[in-house]
Amino acid sequence: MPPRFPLTRRTLLTGSALLAGAVLLPRAARAAVGEGEAVRLSAGPARVNLAGAGFPDTAVWAYDGRIPGPELRFRQGDTARIAFANTLPEPTTIHWHGLRVPNAMDGVPGLSQPPVPAGGRFDYEFPLKDAGTFWYHPHVNSGVQVAHGLTGAFIVEEREPIRVDRDLLWLLGDWRLTKEAELAGGFGHPMDATHAGRIGNTVTINGAVRDRVPVRAGERVRLRLINAANARVFALDFQGHAPRVIALDGHPVTPHAPPDGRVVLGPGQRADLVIDMEGRPGEGFDVVDGFYPRMAYRLTRLTYGAEAPLRDSPLDAPVALAANPLPEPDLAGAVRQDVVLDGGMHGAMPKTAGQRGPFWALNGVASMAHHHLEPLITVKRGQTQVTAFVNETGWWHPMHLHGFPFRVLSRNGQPAEHREWRDTVLLGPRETAEIAFVAEEAGDWMLHCHVLEHQETGMMAVLRVTA
Ligand code: C2O
Ligand code: CU
Repeated sequence: MPPRFPLTRRTLLTGSALLAGAVLLPRAARAAVGEGEAVRLSAGPARVNLAGAGFPDTAVWAYDGRIPGPELRFRQGDTARIAFANTLPEPTTIHWHGLRVPNAMDGVPGLSQPPVPAGGRFDYEFPLKDAGTFWYHPHVNSGVQVAHGLTGAFIVEEREPIRVDRDLLWLLGDWRLTKEAELAGGFGHPMDATHAGRIGNTVTINGAVRDRVPVRAGERVRLRLINAANARVFALDFQGHAPRVIALDGHPVTPHAPPDGRVVLGPGQRADLVIDMEGRPGEGFDVVDGFYPRMAYRLTRLTYGAEAPLRDSPLDAPVALAANPLPEPDLAGAVRQDVVLDGGMHGAMPKTAGQRGPFWALNGVASMAHHHLEPLITVKRGQTQVTAFVNETGWWHPMHLHGFPFRVLSRNGQPAEHREWRDTVLLGPRETAEIAFVAEEAGDWMLHCHVLEHQETGMMAVLRVTA
């Protein structure tokens, strides 16, 4: 199914053409922090240029006035302290997507904390057990707040990182803009909620349409990709290059070439790549997003500078990352709880649903945001759980579990090649994925589709872990 509001090359091209010459990728602002010191972070209205020179600024909601929010960087084993202030006109929270945090720090309103009211503050503090590429975003009115720009990268550096020449981050955003570069309205419209979600028409890398990304011949880059879009799925083809995937959703995986040469990222997902820049000075190579058939477009272009190559043959250094200290599921002693996804356009639910939903259900239960949530699944702390997500719909769903990274055991009955750790697994129409995890922390944890318009119209549930 093509997105309802196709990405217009016009929007991208106009922005890009006018951007020509502006090739510098500004280094994301970093909060330089020492251990023990709290990082201040605020959420509030701002105006930023998203679409490029020649377009007016866009009124957004942003962390610290920037799109994306400041790149929060810590080291594994440190404690993150974030003193958060809400200067938005409505309540919000911050969810630290993919990080193993104590339940009270998970940022889910009504479940792990009260919403932070307009003008309110909340101090987040949690130890950083895992290294990797994570991100943060609100968990209140998510479809609206994330589409307004409230997203940021959260990087936890390894104590012993692999050797690369540069560590690059691309936080991918997707915006539905009007011709005047204002955010289009219609948030949560049933046409989006019952279909593929709010897919936009302008894709940004670190908050801007980027015609090119400068690289140097011979360098080895670690590229951290984050899909921070409400609904868009990406499938990136790095033409002329042979990227290796070294981590998925933050966690190390056996280094491998992306299947079919495409790095697929559903909303919420991340991938860390190692790319050796094997082109020659002066050359350029497109990075093409071809996820939606017949709607492929150029995301950006790797543009080689004129300098002499940094080295003649690729760096001879290992690319495998050390594993994170995750508890290994005990499959022999596991309990099994499957989750069936249903609903959507042509599904069973819309007939009975109202204008605002629910449109989707998990195991026949449709939970709406802001309602009291009864647990769908209850499990004892320390227990291994195996869950098959069974997608009975005709739509794509990135299913996200808070609190517990899981191993992907199989897909459509076939053993998963890398048994990778993930926090979000992307299910195609009628697909099944089987996962396993250890429920290591007591509390109520969210399980939901990360297409935010699906989450908010029924596709979410609570997993209760009892002490
Ligand atoms: Cu990134 Cu509950 O979500
Ligand atoms: Cu979904």
